[in-house]
Amino acid sequence: MKKGLVFDLDGVITDTAKFHFLAWRDLGKEIGIDVDLKFNEQLKGISRMDSLERILVHGGRQNDFTQAEKEALAAKKNTHYVELLQDLTPADLLPGVKTFLEEAQAKKVPCAIASASKNAPFILEKLGVITMFAAIVDPATLHKGKPDPEIFIKAAEMLGFTPEECVGFEDAQAGLDGIKASGMYAVGVLSGEPLHGADQTVHELTELDLDQLLQK
Ligand code: BG6
Ligand code: MG
Repeated sequence: MKKGLVFDLDGVITDTAKFHFLAWRDLGKEIGIDVDLKFNEQLKGISRMDSLERILVHGGRQNDFTQAEKEALAAKKNTHYVELLQDLTPADLLPGVKTFLEEAQAKKVPCAIASASKNAPFILEKLGVITMFAAIVDPATLHKGKPDPEIFIKAAEMLGFTPEECVGFEDAQAGLDGIKASGMYAVGVLSGEPLHGADQTVHELTELDLDQLLQK
């Protein structure tokens, strides 16, 4: 019997991947690196600084910037990304998310957010669902990013459960690998690219029956 639900944010609760992509693509242009949609797939679930490192390697420019310059580049991308988020409203919740969270709340099944994004609280506020989460892991407190299971183990701990007592939801392979490594039951949310190793995959949360999932 499962007792808690642990959600990734970007690509599971709302579709912010397109804004991450636009912001990285524009930053890439400024430093002569082509960031296309296919390459962008490799950035899903990956922290801001690690994403920048991957972009620099992709463009063969990994030795061209000091740490301070890299931090300035990441900050510039984030400023642009946050600008793109300004018009986010509850209408931007992905299909089925609101109903699913409400049902969990009614059944007293606590929910947590395990996102690599430092913008998670701001985004959840904009979407009007921040109060539906009993815990939000602060990625700044982590030693390792996804696919390491640390963020999922921490989320379960914050809910007061073991990972085995939780169900994790992810749209990115790195995150899904982290969920499985933590010992949680993994629901993969498909958004184009196939996901490997999920216990179950769906296209949207509307396809899920919460009671059945809690029996897993
Ligand atoms: C993840 C996204 O949720 O958060 C990544 O999938 C992103 O694309 C990462 O890089 C970090 O986000 P932020 O908002 O802290 O730059
Ligand atoms: Mg995601």
